Amino acid sequence: MKFRAPDIYDAGFVERLFDEMSGTYERVNYLSSFGFSRRWREQFVGEASIGPGMTVCDLMCGVGECWEAVSAQLAGGRLVALDFSGGMLRLAEHRRADLPDLDISLRREDALASSLRDGCADRIVCGFGVKTLSDEQREVFASEVARLLRPGGAFSLVEVSIPRGWWLKGLYMLYLKHIIPIIGWVLLGNPENYRMLGVYTEQFGDCRSMRNALVRNGLRTTYHDYFFGCASGVSGIKL
Ligand SMILES: C[S@@+](CC[C@H](N)C(=O)[O-])C[C@H]1O[C@@H](n2cnc3c(N)ncnc32)[C@H](O)[C@@H]1O
Repeated sequence: MKFRAPDIYDAGFVERLFDEMSGTYERVNYLSSFGFSRRWREQFVGEASIGPGMTVCDLMCGVGECWEAVSAQLAGGRLVALDFSGGMLRLAEHRRADLPDLDISLRREDALASSLRDGCADRIVCGFGVKTLSDEQREVFASEVARLLRPGGAFSLVEVSIPRGWWLKGLYMLYLKHIIPIIGWVLLGNPENYRMLGVYTEQFGDCRSMRNALVRNGLRTTYHDYFFGCASGVSGIKL
């Protein structure tokens, strides 16, 4: 039988990848961004202008890495957090227990086909989730953001990206493709999963195509570069 390479955008493939990385993802993410990931989360969540009493959806929530930043702005509101990896969600449950003042509802669902009702969200945030989506899946994701937001609602997302300056681009890709797998190997004994993060980032580039998809779905957008483009993001509103 002929060997067939896995489809790296297949939902089952991505889900297994994050299941396997769930125990180490947060640490590797922190180390691999030189500690910037925490700051980028604060910055991109800030762009969503979350206020007291709102309903916020965290799409592709992982282990809840964005919740500290959300909870700083969301008094008396509700957070609906969604991810399809059971491994990531099990750890998210621990984090929920550490944030008793926040009303967090956790759902194991595909962000591209969720059961959330139209217009249910005042705000949507998504941290580092869109690089594992293909072009077609990003289009579906954008239509879901437009569907879930109420009119006047706002969203913000961020993703690790390839910086545009050649010197930083070379250094950063070397780091993503060769150093992070070593960190993953030391922590997990498996460099292959973390090597995939470099592969996804290389294919993804930056948030420009994500922004175009959001615009095509009727959202007003603003583009953001974080630290010379090592991460990029899109925020905006549904008119
Ligand atoms: C890189 S992690 C990001 C986690 C977290 N939001 C953060 O800020 O670090 C990406 C997460 O997206 C989830 N994910 C990817 N595609 C998804 C989809 N279609 N539906 C639901 N979750 C998805 C993965 O399971 C993983 O937990």
